[in-house]
Amino acid sequence: MKIRRSIAVGALVTATVGALTVGPALANLTYRSPADQSLKQLGARHDLYIGTAVNTDLLADTSDPTYSQIASSQFSTVTPENVMKWEVIEPTRGTYDWSKADAFVKFAEKNHQLIRGHVLVWHNQLPKWLTDGVTAGTITKADVRALMKKHITDVAQHFKGKIWQWDVVNEAVSDPWETNNVIKLRDDASKGFWYNNYGPDYIADAFRFARAADPNALLFYNDYNIDAFGSTGADDKAQFVYTLVKDLLNKGVPIDGIGSQGHLSTRYGNFDPLQIADAQNKFASLGVATAITEADVRSLMTDGLKAGTDNDVNTAVQAQAANYSALMQGCLASPHCISFTVWGFDDKHNWTTTTDLGSGPGGEALAGIYDANYKPKRAFNTLKADLAFSGAPYVVDRIKQRPRR
Ligand code: G3I
Repeated sequence: MKIRRSIAVGALVTATVGALTVGPALANLTYRSPADQSLKQLGARHDLYIGTAVNTDLLADTSDPTYSQIASSQFSTVTPENVMKWEVIEPTRGTYDWSKADAFVKFAEKNHQLIRGHVLVWHNQLPKWLTDGVTAGTITKADVRALMKKHITDVAQHFKGKIWQWDVVNEAVSDPWETNNVIKLRDDASKGFWYNNYGPDYIADAFRFARAADPNALLFYNDYNIDAFGSTGADDKAQFVYTLVKDLLNKGVPIDGIGSQGHLSTRYGNFDPLQIADAQNKFASLGVATAITEADVRSLMTDGLKAGTDNDVNTAVQAQAANYSALMQGCLASPHCISFTVWGFDDKHNWTTTTDLGSGPGGEALAGIYDANYKPKRAFNTLKADLAFSGAPYVVDRIKQRPRR
């Protein structure tokens, strides 16, 4: 034991002497300012992939080259905002249109970006022939079961080897205000399509079909409002998702990751970095990877914001940055958080500008990290700072996730 003690003392002395002498040498390090590095370069410090959802119509818009320039230079992973969804891929039953999705894959491969496939099973953006057929009774429950299996198999096989992460099932869990503060699998008329027409086992089956079609893609469950845990009781959506995934894993369902979308608004209380870090680590404790998959932070469009008055703009811009930072720091805090994706990067093309979230279309907006003229906002540089000014012992390289068989 004495020997160990002398080694410990020796190590302390060496470290102290080292610290005293290393000062001047540090001053000569070639320091590359974070301002001169891209988000993906700064993310690479931690082996963290930084991504964006991509609007493929804008990629093709030669009158707006800046969109493509940013999409290709700042990000190391990309997600198709819409073109891998069922209504686009299979517009008529049994007839696939891969053109837009293949163009997206080509863009990603040209820019050496990993792809988050989005989305195999969701209640939104389903093709009319499917939803109308179910409504008319011409598509039976047995048909729906066969059609979901075929869709997942055909799509996952078409993109086999090109998808890093698949959002296999998206938004299957209710929000507390929708179900009297008792969270459950969505079974309502508008969002319960798969529960009602396939059956509650659609989630497990979707992951099994995806794994059978692609042995190497990481298979994610993806949802919003699971950024942090609340009461951990019946009204806690994050807790419900945690238990849902834990139960599915215990049944041998091949789930490799949980995606926390991160759609926030500065009008709400939201969460601090420690709460988000706790959620990331708790999800990861199931043996899965995590990812922030659709981060954006919108603001209620007050008259001041619409007019661009300083008081409102300054408040919104700083509150937005703080919320993006909380998501990034929460992700960095867990070595299992393997990617951080924003859901589009500029204010002009963000989904919120045309969506009614309770205050009319565009009633909540300005969600991007760039403004409508592609000028970086406070959030952009705050994300860079979080990536640049962080490191061991609290932030370490990401731990790679192996696909579950
Ligand atoms: O393609 C049609 C076009 O032909 C038609 O002329 C036009 C006008 O009606 O609509 C176009 O479809 C639109 C589609 O985006 C493609 O642009 C739909 O109306 C529009 O509702 C759809 O919105 C998308 C939304 O999902 C649908 O729920 C947003 O772009 C997309 O950003 C948003 O993304 C979702 C994620 O997939 C899942 N998580 C939430 C996130 C935000 O809602």
